[in-house]
Amino acid sequence: MTVLKSLLDVTAESYATNRKAQLEALAKLEEQLELAVAGGGERYVRRHRDRGKLPVRERLELLLDPDSPFLELSALAAWGTDFTVGASVLTGIGVVSDVECVVIGHDPTVRGGAMNPYSLRKTLRALEIARVNRLPVVNLVESGGADLPTQADLFVPAGRIFHELTELSSLGIPTLAIVFGNSTAGGAYVPGMCDYAVLVDRQAKVFLGGPPLVKMATGEEADDESLGGAEMHSRVSGLSDYFAVDERDAIRLGRRVLSRINWRKLGPGPTRTPEPPRFDPEEILGIVPPDTKVPFDPREILARTVDGSDFDEYKPLYGTSLVTGWASIHGYPVGVLANHRGVLFSEEAKKASEFILLANQTDVPLVFLQNTTGYMVGTRYEQGGIIKDGAKMINAVTNSTVPHLTVNMASSFGAGNYGMSGRAYDPRLMFAWPGAKLAVMGAPQLAGVMSIVGRASAASQGREFDEEADRTRTAAIESQIERESHAFAVTARLYDDGIVDPRDTRDVLGMSLSAVHSNRVEGRRGFGVFRM
Ligand code: COA
Repeated sequence: MTVLKSLLDVTAESYATNRKAQLEALAKLEEQLELAVAGGGERYVRRHRDRGKLPVRERLELLLDPDSPFLELSALAAWGTDFTVGASVLTGIGVVSDVECVVIGHDPTVRGGAMNPYSLRKTLRALEIARVNRLPVVNLVESGGADLPTQADLFVPAGRIFHELTELSSLGIPTLAIVFGNSTAGGAYVPGMCDYAVLVDRQAKVFLGGPPLVKMATGEEADDESLGGAEMHSRVSGLSDYFAVDERDAIRLGRRVLSRINWRKLGPGPTRTPEPPRFDPEEILGIVPPDTKVPFDPREILARTVDGSDFDEYKPLYGTSLVTGWASIHGYPVGVLANHRGVLFSEEAKKASEFILLANQTDVPLVFLQNTTGYMVGTRYEQGGIIKDGAKMINAVTNSTVPHLTVNMASSFGAGNYGMSGRAYDPRLMFAWPGAKLAVMGAPQLAGVMSIVGRASAASQGREFDEEADRTRTAAIESQIERESHAFAVTARLYDDGIVDPRDTRDVLGMSLSAVHSNRVEGRRGFGVFRM
C-alpha cells in the first residue's frame, strides 16, 4: 500500500542531460579524491616506503576487518586552500575486530603529517562524531605536530584534541593510539591521553622535546631512543602498553585491544528486514537537474533509497513543498523530511515541527534531505507569521534528541539550512551530493541585494550611483558567492562530513545509522506532540 511508484522516464531528454551533468560532477569529485589519496605526492610517498613504512591508507586497510566498508569523512578538507586536499589526516568510521570505530590517521607524507588549521578541524570533528555516537577511537599516529607557520590559528584550539580524548575515556568510550613514528611535543599527549598505546620499535618517537630541544633547554645530550623510543616507553616509562616489533605487529596488537573491550552498542540493531529498493539507485543521476533552481520530486529519490521503496507518507496533502514520512534504511526505521519545491511556507514549517515531535515520541532517527531555498518572504507570509512558524521548526530541530542525518541533495539556502538540520543543528553526520550548493542565499540573489542596498545608500547620501561600477561589482560578488557555495568549498571548510555519490546515499545512510546506534537512541520527552 505504501510502496512508492515512479514516474521517471528514463528515455526523456532531461534524464540524459541530468545524468551527464551528474557524471561530470562525479568525475571532478574523483579527481579531487585522487589528490587526497596521493597525499604528499610521489616523491614523499617513495621516501616513506624506502624507510620501510606503510602509507596511512595501507595502515588503515590492515586495521579494518577484511572486506568491511569504511565511511571516509571530510576527504576534501582544505580543498581550494594552500594546504593539500584532505588536510594531512584521514578520518572515518570503520569496523575493527567487530567494533565500529572512528579512525584518525595522520598522513606523514604531507609535510611530515603536521597539523594545519584544517587538519585540526577535521580531527576535532572526528572526535566529536566519536563522542556523540559513542564510537571507540583508533589513532594511527605519525605527525610533526603543529604546522609551525600557521601555529597562531592552531596552537590554542589544538589543545582540544587532548581534552576530547580524555572526555571520551571518562564517558567509557575506549581510545587507542598506535604510534608509527613522530609524536612529539603536544603529539605526545595522544598516546598520553588514550586508554591504550602501542608503540612501534625503532619508529615511534614520543617525547615532549626531541634531542635538539633538550640540548637547548638543559644542555643534556640525549638520543631519540632513550628520550622516546618504543623500547624505553615499554620497559621504563610505562607509557607504552604494547611493544610492537614492526608496523604490522602494531596493527595486530591494536586489533587485539579492540577485541577485548567487551563492547556493546546501546542502541537497537536493525529491527526491520533490510530489503533493497524496488528502483535502481543508478537512476538518481538522471533525476537531479544540474540547475538547482529546477525542482525534483524527492519521492523519486526515496524510491531508490529506502528499504523496499516503502515510504509511508505523513500529511501528504498538507504543506506539500515538504515531504515527510516513515521508512526504513538497511533495516533501521527512520522518519524522513525532504524538500520538494524548495520554499518552506508556514504549513511546511508546522508540518515539519509536528513530524519531528512524533519521531521523538517514538525514538525514530530522522533523515533530512535538503533542497531548500529557505522560508518564504513577502508581505502575505510575514503577516501570516512565517517567522513564528519557522521558529517552531527550528525549535523542534534544536530540541530533538533522536539522531539526525542530513544530506544536501541540491541546495541549502538561508534559514532553510537551519530548519533542515544543517551543521549548526548538530546532525550526527551530514553529507552533500557533488552538485549541491550551500550559502546564505543564491549567488544572483545575494549580488542583487547588494546592488539594491548600494543604490539606496547612494540615494540617501545624495551621491550619484555609478551604474558601470555597480555592474562590475555585482558580477564579482556573484562569482565569489558562486565559488563559495560550491559543494567542494563547503566541505573544504568542514561544514559537512563529506561529499557522497548520490547512488551511494542508501549505503552511506545505512552505515551512518549503524554508527549512531552505538549510542542510545532516545527522543525528547516532556512536551508531547503540539498540534500546530
Ligand atoms: N610544520 C610545518 N612543516 C613541517 C613540519 C611542521 N611541524 N614538520 C615538517 N614539515 C615540513 C618540512 O619542512 C618538509 O618540507 P619540505 O619537504 O618542503 O622541505 C616536509 O614537511 C617534510 O619534512 P621532513 O623533515 O623532510 O620529513 P621527515 O619525515 O624526515 O621528518 C618530522 C618528519 C616530523 C620528524 C620532522 O619534519 C620534524 O621534526 N618536524 C618538526 C617537528 C616539531 O618540532 N613540531 C612541533 C611540534 S609542536
